[in-house]
Amino acid sequence: MIDSFGRSITYLRLSVTELCDLRCRYCMPEEGVCKLRHDQMLTEEEMLRAVCAASKLGITKVRVTGGEPLTKPNILSICRGIAQAPGIQDTAITTNGTRLPELAGPLRKAGIRRVNISLDTLDPEKYAYITRRGQLQNALNGLRAALDAGFDQVKINAVLIGGFNEDEIPALAELTQRWPVDVRFIELMPMAGNTGFGKESYIPVSRVLQRLPEAKAENEEGVAKMYRLPGARGRLGLISPLSQHFCASCNRIRLTADGKLKPCLHSAEEISIKGLNDEDMLAQMKKAILSKPRCHKALSAESRSQTARNMNQIGG
Ligand code: GTP
Ligand code: 5AD
Ligand code: SF4
Repeated sequence: MIDSFGRSITYLRLSVTELCDLRCRYCMPEEGVCKLRHDQMLTEEEMLRAVCAASKLGITKVRVTGGEPLTKPNILSICRGIAQAPGIQDTAITTNGTRLPELAGPLRKAGIRRVNISLDTLDPEKYAYITRRGQLQNALNGLRAALDAGFDQVKINAVLIGGFNEDEIPALAELTQRWPVDVRFIELMPMAGNTGFGKESYIPVSRVLQRLPEAKAENEEGVAKMYRLPGARGRLGLISPLSQHFCASCNRIRLTADGKLKPCLHSAEEISIKGLNDEDMLAQMKKAILSKPRCHKALSAESRSQTARNMNQIGG
């Protein structure tokens, strides 16, 4: 479906849970989140009906997100259902990777084609700090398992944080020389809850190119501008929601675990589909696409996102 500004909306990001086994400082509070009551959350059946409604409106790609989607007990069945839904050509997942050693193979069999793994640092102590509890080795084991499971594509997401991992740009980029993975650097987005970051934390992804002048530009892919180091197997990606937002080419809508359609990641508007029949769900989905704004308010260290949600309640 084409939205009010001529953009073709083909991509649904479906958050299946707000819960996570980690507590990344830029994503969720240390104490975690209050569990939603079961009747406040979308059921698996509602999620799959929502995917079918989205597909009727021209959605062809679904990315399963969280929280951490692999903490959801019925995740394989949800993924299988999405991958088999009529019209859905590409089913992908974004995960912190800690449960991939057990789940990479079963996810591949369930029809997941592509996996994005969050990994901001290669230093065990820094990993424990930024995730407030994680062990780097678990994420690395997950990455290994994803590479062995035969996905079409494996990407690493590294949120670039001034004073934290800027010095690791070369080491993270080097992963693209060792393995067939894309490493994407993402500008830290100022969400409602992640106020612990000072101005110096918000650095532009152009720093990556300053550190790696030998990187050659390739095509854009989704929200990322792509580059490659000489001879590398994988690519580098720069995602710049602050320094150069990509609203003009936005092709996505989001559905949260509590059944709210979000026309825009950074706006407060939400449209509920919880408890609706197929016909009403379809109508709400059309409404959400038509109410996508032209652009969100500019983001910066001083100007936070207008959504009250933290990232774990949206899915990125
Ligand atoms: P593929 O292109 O399918 O690999 O996935 P993706 O980049 O859309 O998804 P992923 O979940 O890996 O998200 C990567 C980063 O991009 C996360 O930090 C997201 O929050 C961010 N992101 C994704 N979509 C948008 C968007 O529409 N706007 C903004 N500002 N950021 C986004
Ligand atoms: N800014 C930028 N990226 C974020 N993510 C989570 N919170 C933020 C934020 N505040 C990233 C995660 C994950 C992806 C879905 O979103 O690292 O890879
Ligand atoms: Fe969990 Fe991902 Fe948020 Fe980290 S960024 S707390 S791994 S949902």
